[in-house]
Amino acid sequence: MAFPNIAHPKETRVIYKRIGTPDYTPDIDCYIRNGGYETLKKIMAAGNPAALCSEIEVAGIKGRGGAGFPAGMKWKFLDRKSGKPIYFVVNADESEPGTHKDRWIIYYDPHELIEGIVACSYATQAKQAFIFIRGEFVHGAQILEKAIEEARAHNFVGDNILGSGFNLEIVVHRGAGAYVCGEETGLLEALEGKRGQPRIKPPYFPAVLGLYNCPTVVNNVETVCQCLNAFQMGGEAYSKIGVKGDAGTRVLNVSGLVSKPGIFEIATGTVTVGELLNDMCGGPLPGRKFKAVIPGGSSMKPLRFDEKYKIKDADGNEKEVFLEDVPLDAASLMACGSSIGTGGMIVFDDSVEMIQALANLNAFYKHESCGQCTPCREGSMWTARISKRICDGNGDPEDIDTLKSVADTICGRTICAHGEGMAWPIQGAIAKFRDEYLESIRWRKAGENSPFPNCPPLI
Ligand SMILES: Cc1cc2nc3c(=O)[nH]c(=O)nc-3n(C[C@H](O)[C@H](O)[C@H](O)COP(=O)(O)O)c2cc1C
Ligand code: SF4
Repeated sequence: MAFPNIAHPKETRVIYKRIGTPDYTPDIDCYIRNGGYETLKKIMAAGNPAALCSEIEVAGIKGRGGAGFPAGMKWKFLDRKSGKPIYFVVNADESEPGTHKDRWIIYYDPHELIEGIVACSYATQAKQAFIFIRGEFVHGAQILEKAIEEARAHNFVGDNILGSGFNLEIVVHRGAGAYVCGEETGLLEALEGKRGQPRIKPPYFPAVLGLYNCPTVVNNVETVCQCLNAFQMGGEAYSKIGVKGDAGTRVLNVSGLVSKPGIFEIATGTVTVGELLNDMCGGPLPGRKFKAVIPGGSSMKPLRFDEKYKIKDADGNEKEVFLEDVPLDAASLMACGSSIGTGGMIVFDDSVEMIQALANLNAFYKHESCGQCTPCREGSMWTARISKRICDGNGDPEDIDTLKSVADTICGRTICAHGEGMAWPIQGAIAKFRDEYLESIRWRKAGENSPFPNCPPLI
C-alpha cells in the first residue's frame, strides 16, 4: 500500500519526513539507514533525563490528541514524591471522527514511534510503556509488535538499553472498539482490564493517580513523535518552528467534500485554511462551493466560509478576515470560536444540509456515551432523537432551541469531555446555521422537494 500523497511545497514535513519517500519501508534497517535511533543514542549518552524534560518544556509542544495540553507541563506534574513507578502510555486509539494522522505513522514509520516512546520513557524515567491501539487497527498492532521485537534485537528496547542501565518494555494493548476509550482515563481503565469508563478528575489526574493508581503520562502518538523531534533538534530550536505559543509542525488530516483529501504537515500558522483546502487539496469538487469546516475532529464547532472572523496577526493587532484567510494554528482557530483539536479537518460543501450532517454526528455521540453521567447519557439520546425527528419531517421550529438548551446544559457537567465533544458541534451549527435549520424544518413540513438533493444521506 502506497502512502496517499507526497509532500506539497507548502508543507514542512518533520514527523512525516520519511513517509511516502521512494523505497522507504517500515523495517528497522531502513529506519536506521535514514538516521533512525541516533537521537536515542545521543540522549542516552548524555545521561540527563531531567534536562530532557526541560527541553520539552522549552520546546512548547501542545498535545496533539485534541485537548492541546502542553506536554512539558504534563510531564512536570508527575508525582515523583510518591515513590511509585511511573508509566508511559501512548494513546493510539485515534477514534475521533475525521482524524486519521496517527495510523499512518504506525503503518509507515513505526520505529519513529518506538524510538519516541523509549526516549520519552527515559526522559520521564518510566518503568514500563504501553501503546493502547484502537482495536480495529489489527494490522497496525501487528506492525508495532514486529517493530518492538526488531528494536529489542538492537538493544533499543529491553534491559540495559544501549548500556545506559535503563530498562524498558513496551506492551501493545488493543482496545475493544469504544470511542470513549480514547479519553485518557477511560483508556487507563480499559488498560487495567475494566470497562472503559472515564474516571473523575480530581482525584484521578493521570500524572498523580493513573495506571494502577501510579503516576502516568498519557500522550498521543503524534505528540510522542514531536517530542522525539524536539530531543533531536533541541527545545530552543524546536520552539522557533511555527507560531509562538503553538510551536512545531502539525499534521492536518483533511477529509470530506474536497477534491484531494489527504495528510499535510505544516509549520503552525504558515498556511491558511484557504491555502490548505484550495492549493493543497485541490479546492471544492466540480461545481461546488465550500460551505463549512469542522477544523479539529468532529467534537469541535463548525465554521462558515462566508463569514468574517476577528483574529490577531503576528504583532498582536486585531484584523477581520474570511475563514479562507485564517492561519492554521491553535490561537487563530480559537479566536474564530472553534479549535484546531486533532487537526482533523472535515469539509462540507454547499450540497450538505447541516441538520443531516449534525444528525449523523449526534447519532455517533449517543452510541459512544459510556452512560455514567446523566447529562451525557440522556442529553446525547435527546439530541440524536430531536435531530432525527427534524430530518424525518416531524420537527418544529422550537426544536432548535431545545437542541441548544440540551447542548448548553451538558457543557461543564460531565465526568469527561465527551459531553462537550457532543455539545460543541450542535452549539456551533445552531449559532452559524439557525436560518438553514428553520428552513429545513419548514420545507419538510410543507412537503416541498429538498434544496439539498445531493446531500450525503443519514447513516
Ligand atoms: C471522548 C474522548 C475521546 C478521545 N479520543 C482520543 C484519541 O482517540 N486519541 C488521543 O490521542 N486522544 C484522545 N482524547 C484526548 C485524551 O483524553 C488525552 O487528552 C490525550 O490522549 C492526551 O495526549 P496529548 O496530551 O499528547 O494530546 C479523547 C478525549 C475524549 C474526551
Ligand atoms: S461524559 Fe459521557 S462518556 Fe464521559 S464519562 Fe460521562 S457519560 Fe461517560
